[in-house]
Amino acid sequence: MAWRFLTSGESHGRGLLVVVDGLPAGLSISRDDLTGVMARRRRGFGRGGRKNVERDELTLWGGIRNGLTTGGPVGISIDNAEWEHWDGVMNPWSISPAADREKAVTAPRPGHADLPGSIKFGVENMRNILERASARTTAPRTLAGALAALVLKELGVTVRSAVESIGGVAAALPAGDDEWQRAALSELGVAREEDEPALKARITAAAEEETSLGGTFVVSVTGLPAGIGSFTEWDGRLDGRLAGALMAIPAVKGVEVGDGFRSAGLPGRDVHDPIFVEDGQWTRKTNHAGGIEGGMSTGQEIFIRAAMKPIPTMRKGLLSFDTVSGKPSAAHSERSDVCAVPAACVVAEAMTAWIVGSMAAEQFGSDRMQDLKERFEAYRKHAERWNLHECMPS
Ligand SMILES: Cc1cc2nc3c(=O)[nH]c(=O)nc-3n(C[C@H](O)[C@H](O)[C@H](O)COP(=O)(O)O)c2cc1C
Repeated sequence: MAWRFLTSGESHGRGLLVVVDGLPAGLSISRDDLTGVMARRRRGFGRGGRKNVERDELTLWGGIRNGLTTGGPVGISIDNAEWEHWDGVMNPWSISPAADREKAVTAPRPGHADLPGSIKFGVENMRNILERASARTTAPRTLAGALAALVLKELGVTVRSAVESIGGVAAALPAGDDEWQRAALSELGVAREEDEPALKARITAAAEEETSLGGTFVVSVTGLPAGIGSFTEWDGRLDGRLAGALMAIPAVKGVEVGDGFRSAGLPGRDVHDPIFVEDGQWTRKTNHAGGIEGGMSTGQEIFIRAAMKPIPTMRKGLLSFDTVSGKPSAAHSERSDVCAVPAACVVAEAMTAWIVGSMAAEQFGSDRMQDLKERFEAYRKHAERWNLHECMPS
C-alpha cells in the first residue's frame, strides 16, 4: 500500500487533524516520539506569541494500540489551546457577526495567499484564506513525517537538519554527530553555540524595524543504500519528490540537491564525482551530487539545501488596498513570527523523512514492519556486495 496522508483544520479552528495511511503494522511508537518533534517545530528565537500559547496537545484516534501501529490509518488531532477565544469567529455552525467583523481580513498581505486566494474563492473577507494558508498546517505534516522517521530509524536511515543562515548571517554547518545533535536541540537550529549571538542580533534588529527575515537550512539523509527512487519515469525520481515536498512548505522558494545552483556555473570536471577503484572496490571521494544521481540514491549522504523567504506578515504592513473601501491601505497585520527558519527546518526534515520512507515502502512493501525490515536489509546487502564486485559480471 502506498503511503499517503491528508490534513484538515484551520490555524485558529478547534484543532488540526492528520490521517496517515499505509504505515506498516508493528512499528513501535511512544508518545514522546510525537510530542518531541512537535516541541522542536515550536522552537525559534523570533517566533511570534503563538509558540508560547500552543502546547500541541495530541489525541490519538486510531491506528496505534499499546504503542504499536496496527496497519490501519493513524489518526491524530492537535488541539488549539486558544479555541475558547476563537469559537465566536471559527465555530463551524454559528459565528458572532461582531467578532467576525473584528477579525475580518480585508487588506491582502503581499507575499501571502490572501489576494490570489480571495480571487479564487470570490471572498472580500480573507479570513478563510488566512486560516488554511497559515503555516500552522505544517504541524500535522510534521507528525506524518515523524511517523515516517520512526520507520526509517528501524531501517538504519537517519534524517537530520540544521539552519545555515538567517537574514544573510551565516552559521557553520554541522561537522559530526554531536553538532547535528546540537542543531536538533538548539533554539535556532544551528550547530555551534558561538554562531547564535549574531543570528539573534539580526532577528532582534528586524523585529525592531518591524520587518521579517528568511534564511537557508540543510537536510541530510544517511544510511540509505544506493538505488532508492527511480529513473524509469518522471514521477518516480527521488530528487523530484523531495523537491516537491520541500517546495510545498509555505515560504520555501528554492531547493537544491548537492551543489545545486552553484553547479550551473562550473565545468563538468568540477561538478561530477569521479569513481575510483581502491582495494578491489569502487569508491567516491566527493559528493557534489548530494547523494542522488538519475533520480536514485547513490548510497552517499543525501544533502539538500532550501531557501525560505522572509515572512509576509509584518507589524508595519506593506502597501496594499482594502477590499471593502477599494482604497489604498497598509496590509493586514496580526500576531506573526519575525523569523521561522528554525521551525521550517524541522518541517523540512519531517517531509524528507516522509518522502524517503514512502519511497522505500513503495520499493519493498509495507504491510508488516518486520517484512519491510528484512527486505530492506536484504537489499542493503545486495547493494554492498555490488560494491565488492561479487555481483559484477566477470
Ligand atoms: C514554520 C513556518 C512558520 C511561518 N509563520 C508565518 C507567520 O507567522 N506569518 C506569516 O505571515 N507567514 C508565516 N509563514 C509563511 C507563510 O505561511 C507563507 O509565506 C504563506 O503561506 C504564503 O505561501 P508562499 O510564501 O509559499 O507563497 C511561515 C512558514 C513556515 C514554514
